[in-house]
Amino acid sequence: MPLLEAENLRIHIRSEDGLARAVDGVSFSLEPGEALALVGESGCGKSLTALGIMGLLPSAAFYAGGTLKFQGNDILGLSENNRRKLRGREMAMVFQDPMQFLNPVLTCGEQVAESLLVLEKKSSREAQQRVQELFREVGLPDPERQARQYPHELSGGMRQRVLIAMALTLRPKLLIADEPTTALDATVQAQILLLLRKLAREKNMALLIITHDLNAVSQVADRVAVMYAGKIVETLSVQKLFTRPRHPYARALLNSMPARVPVDQPLRGIPGQVPDPKQPPAGCRFHPRCSRILPLCSQKEPALIGGVACHNPWEG
Ligand SMILES: Nc1ncnc2c1ncn2[C@@H]1O[C@H](COP(=O)(O)OP(=O)(O)OP(=O)(O)O)[C@@H](O)[C@H]1O
Ligand SMILES: [Mg+2]
Repeated sequence: MPLLEAENLRIHIRSEDGLARAVDGVSFSLEPGEALALVGESGCGKSLTALGIMGLLPSAAFYAGGTLKFQGNDILGLSENNRRKLRGREMAMVFQDPMQFLNPVLTCGEQVAESLLVLEKKSSREAQQRVQELFREVGLPDPERQARQYPHELSGGMRQRVLIAMALTLRPKLLIADEPTTALDATVQAQILLLLRKLAREKNMALLIITHDLNAVSQVADRVAVMYAGKIVETLSVQKLFTRPRHPYARALLNSMPARVPVDQPLRGIPGQVPDPKQPPAGCRFHPRCSRILPLCSQKEPALIGGVACHNPWEG
């Protein structure tokens, strides 16, 4: 049974000038222990999908349809109280900016210990021991010392490790990481990604990693879901993504990767822009930017069949 299964998930946002269909029919599944990367340009709905899974939608956003199952059970129908119980215990999330989620007036040890004391009813001694253990697991150099330090005393990479330790505290089955390394320099980025992969494997924990960095994808993920304008347009193995993606958008993403552009040529993004989710184009949402457009593409929305949602995909 998949650990997580989204079917036709829709998350819309109310605003003064209309309804934004930011996540608009997302389907994918995640097996226990699997590492799935969710990729796509800025504004495609990646973060909102993650927040939707966690049950942490911003106040203007709401579930507009579809289903979301965790271990076979519907979670969209759960009460806020039960949803809260799932968070932390079953699923946890790390974000791009650890400072936003760390309390500046508590030591790193105190804040990681908190859920152990409150939810697991551990003694303070037990909690302290477990914190040290967690800090060692996430590769903090001197766990005893870092437990006594305040967030501002640590480097960005170390803070991210503390946040990862916090996410792991209650041994979740799913860890969602939303651009966990974007704020860090390249070497530290690679270290954190390797850490996430190692932890996920050791603990048979599924990983949903959100990134627009395809290099990061190759370092952590088994499979990739390519998202465009609120929809998953292709799901494929990492190997396939780098060799023969079928959706023209997935190919365009791949071709816009810096490493693929000869050094003497300017970096090129994909021409055009992600559409406004308040007024998505009819038919396939990618058709105005697509190099393989057919007349059908502006009329009929392609279904996700055999892992790709396209009327005229490349051969796989
Ligand atoms: N709280 C909010 N209020 C209004 N609109 C929002 C809110 N959060 C997201 N949106 C809109 O929903 C769409 C999807 O946003 P989302 O943050 O999920 O994109 P993303 O794929 O994570 O992008 P990025 O790569 O830049 O993080 C965007 O058009 C965004 O403007
Ligand atoms: Mg985002």
